[in-house]
Amino acid sequence: MDFLITPSAAKSGIVTVPGDKSISHRALMLGSIAEGTTEISGFLAGEDCLATLDAFLAMGVEIERQSATDLSVHGVGLNGLSAPAGQLDLGNSGTAMRLMTGLLAAQAFSTELIGDESLNGRPMTRIITPLTQMGAVVESDCDGTPPLQIRGGIKLHGIDYELPMASAQVKSCILLAGLYAEGRTTVTEPDVTRDHTERMLRTMGVSVETDGLRISLEPGQTLIGANIRVPADLSSATFVMLAAVLSEDADVLIENVGVNPTRRGVIDILTAMGADLTLENPRQFGDEPVADIRVRSSRLMGIEVDPALVSLAIDEFPALFVAAASADGETRFTGLKELRVKESDRIAAMSTGLRNLGIEVDEFEDGAVVSGGSFTGGTVESYGDHRIAMSLAVAGSVASGPVIVRDVDAVDTSFPGFAGLMKGLGLSINEDTT
Ligand code: S3P
Repeated sequence: MDFLITPSAAKSGIVTVPGDKSISHRALMLGSIAEGTTEISGFLAGEDCLATLDAFLAMGVEIERQSATDLSVHGVGLNGLSAPAGQLDLGNSGTAMRLMTGLLAAQAFSTELIGDESLNGRPMTRIITPLTQMGAVVESDCDGTPPLQIRGGIKLHGIDYELPMASAQVKSCILLAGLYAEGRTTVTEPDVTRDHTERMLRTMGVSVETDGLRISLEPGQTLIGANIRVPADLSSATFVMLAAVLSEDADVLIENVGVNPTRRGVIDILTAMGADLTLENPRQFGDEPVADIRVRSSRLMGIEVDPALVSLAIDEFPALFVAAASADGETRFTGLKELRVKESDRIAAMSTGLRNLGIEVDEFEDGAVVSGGSFTGGTVESYGDHRIAMSLAVAGSVASGPVIVRDVDAVDTSFPGFAGLMKGLGLSINEDTT
């Protein structure tokens, strides 16, 4: 499927974007190994989280779906999972694969994890190295990519591990394995990354100690099922924020958005660029802070993006490249090395896409300088990456001519209904399946 986009603008209104992907994955995983029932509301019924759901069904967890977004997970306890009948297919989801490998490395049974073409190209050595130090046996392809064979029946031991890269997936993988290990497990991060795992473990009664960048837990603690209300996904809300900022006379309220301080770098970066954003009605959904985000049309200016904000906005750089392309002057992004190993090489994908729409981009190993200008019409590739597809679609709406974004099916992994929601907001983004 492609997106066909014609020049259009966001109008004022109130919108709700789907649930947070990271929190939805964790609610399924932790709910499955908890004692008792976990009621999840606001679940993201996107392909990535549905792959995780299917994997836990295959391991004997009873999960009832009252609706697409409300479900009950009947936890089987720390040691209650059973061997799946075959491979577990995690589709496009790096989060599912990396977190579940930590959990599965400690089970009594062996498992094999597979994924789609994009996931099969993503680095897994970053989890295999620490898990091996814990005693686990995890085999990958010779270049460290999936499929992964995880051997069961092994007793793990705790480690004190310094993460070589800022990654919430690797941190969470090690902490989940640590629940089953002998002795204490400690992870030290180079920079703060999203802490949804730590927060949800605490919600479920597990004591997780945080001392600056060091996070530790003791094994064998029982998780107790909880009610998890999933906030709307700030990463999805970013595309609405971008559309509103770039349109004339728009005033849009996005409701119930997760604004966890370890995730909200995009708000700080857009604000530094001159975006008119306000957080209204701040409150908590359990342990996660939430607010309604009000966004008004704004004139953006180019900035030097503080590399200290990168790990707090890691998924938002494709959209931020579009903001930079619409700003007055140059925007300099550095410290983005991790973007090269996401669902696509996002520095290359966005640099090529923006150039094809008439924007000057100077790309380098860990970032790019984007010169503000105006978008022309044209055809661009998503490289099968949901966030590239959605970022270029919003860019297309403010281009001087029609834009085609090719191969956009992956949008359903994180933002089912994206085109419809954007159309409701006034953007002419049409799905073309011919
Ligand atoms: C995620 C962590 C980030 C992020 C991904 C979701 C998570 O990945 O890019 O979309 O849910 O823990 P890394 O840990 O690889 O940075």
